[in-house]
Amino acid sequence: MSGQKIRVGILISGRGSNMISLVDAARDDACPYEVVLVASDKPDAAGIAWAKDHDIATWTLSPKGIGKPAYESALQNALREAGVETIALAGYMRLVSDTFVEAWRGRIVNIHPSLLPKYKGLDTHARALAAGDAVAGCSVHVVTEELDGGEVLGQTEVVIEPGETSDTLAGRVLAAEHRLYPRILAEFVTR
Ligand code: GRF
Repeated sequence: MSGQKIRVGILISGRGSNMISLVDAARDDACPYEVVLVASDKPDAAGIAWAKDHDIATWTLSPKGIGKPAYESALQNALREAGVETIALAGYMRLVSDTFVEAWRGRIVNIHPSLLPKYKGLDTHARALAAGDAVAGCSVHVVTEELDGGEVLGQTEVVIEPGETSDTLAGRVLAAEHRLYPRILAEFVTR
């Protein structure tokens, strides 16, 4: 079904383990999306090296020195040239501008390591532990102007174990992210 697959661009800033899980899932003929570009604001991101090693088209540019509008307009060009239809943020540590959201309204999704609407922003695992929560987890949501605030498309709960630390919890939530994101992205591009 290659001709009908939705063309996905993935934005990363770091190791890119969620990007890898999306790429792996896309190898299945039945997967409704294909990954046509991995882009990063961090040229030395480990995930970029992995994508290059796996012959996936990459694009990188550091916003340092050129400013956000110039950076985002170059990113827009790269996404357009690659024919990207849907954007998946995967550990992309930069806030996307309102202009960018407007240009891609309803076509950007993100994975976040908490059970939204709880714990938007950073340090989600430490905050869940400090609150004495019994469960943590991850969410895939539509990206809007509000940080981690768009429609939640899917979530996985992860039970918090006795003696849990931020690191142990992060590891188990990350494993859940790798299962959740490909499934929800596939549903999203076909809905
Ligand atoms: C993940 O925990 C994701 O939920 C958050 O940033 C982390 C990215 O990890 N948005 P990776 O780069 O996908 O390994």
